[in-house]
Amino acid sequence: MDSLDSDTGTAPVADEREKTRAPLRDAWYFALPAEALTLGKTRPETILGEPILFGRGADGKVFALADFCPHRGIPLRFGRFDGREIECCYHGWRFDAAGTCTAIPALAEPGKTEIGRIRCRSYPVQELQGNIWVYIGDQSEAAMDAAPPVPVMEGLEDAVPRMREAVMLDGGIDDAVIGLMDPAHGPFVHQSWFWRSGRSVRLKEKRFEPSPWGFIMAKHRPSSNSRAYKILGGTPETEIVFHLPSVRWERITVGRHIMCHLTTLTPIGPKQTRITHSIYWTQPWLSVLRPLLRPFVRIFLRQDRDVMALQQEGLKHDPPVLLLGDADAPARWYFRLKQEILRARAERRAFVNPLKPRTLRWRT
Ligand code: FES
Repeated sequence: MDSLDSDTGTAPVADEREKTRAPLRDAWYFALPAEALTLGKTRPETILGEPILFGRGADGKVFALADFCPHRGIPLRFGRFDGREIECCYHGWRFDAAGTCTAIPALAEPGKTEIGRIRCRSYPVQELQGNIWVYIGDQSEAAMDAAPPVPVMEGLEDAVPRMREAVMLDGGIDDAVIGLMDPAHGPFVHQSWFWRSGRSVRLKEKRFEPSPWGFIMAKHRPSSNSRAYKILGGTPETEIVFHLPSVRWERITVGRHIMCHLTTLTPIGPKQTRITHSIYWTQPWLSVLRPLLRPFVRIFLRQDRDVMALQQEGLKHDPPVLLLGDADAPARWYFRLKQEILRARAERRAFVNPLKPRTLRWRT
């Protein structure tokens, strides 16, 4: 069995990538910020290539429907939403938030047709901690029970993000996840006066442990060459979690206060992934600094976007690539986790995290 312990540090990538190349289905993905859907509004999004119309009814509940009218396929986003039902712009068929047809104006004798049997496909959604998540895939009870749950960040159960930024990345979900969990690119991609300089590379040694649906970089004091932690004052401690299919969060505690950076990757299409960075904090004084922090978050995300665009220049020729040494271990673990979830589904058994605790050493 693959494990962190048996990881030699030079695993070939091609096989693992090939077997798991498709994005995970039967999974919850970050869809959009809760604040993007005000009462009575709809918003179209494409996730895993599927056009989805999200909406928030007058009752405050969020829903998601396949963005096609079941009559002749016109996108429902061109219709009207009155806070309760969507009316298709073509012939006026109406659908409630569950996707059930409630009216067909052209019927001469409406009572003779069971219009409630006409349905627009709906998607399960959850709104948690200021985020809207959508489940993509098999909606059977068994499949949904076996899916990695929507993550909940401890200590922030009723919180919403204080700041949020998103950019679109050129590249598929695997490349985006590898970039997200890559500890070695910082000194080269994120060289900034406010973060760190290229000259400050040091040896890092961190303990990693498996978690129910991924792995955790165990709680530790941040490195002294990472300047961004200094604004928090005190003695910060941080832990970083990766959660399938494509979520990372860093939870920084300073005394009784928490700052949490939630980074989600949403596969839009085979070569497009949206990265959304949401920041929570409980320190009231940090809100005063929000206008100053935002440009730095933007710069950080754009640096990731730009390097990934450059990477795609090479990857479009499908060259062999290597995941080498401890710095690339998180990427190898991601493929193993993904492979295990696919195997578990094929064998109709529970997912068993194949990773074991391990200490990684790398220079960054
Ligand atoms: Fe929607 Fe006809 S296409 S009502």
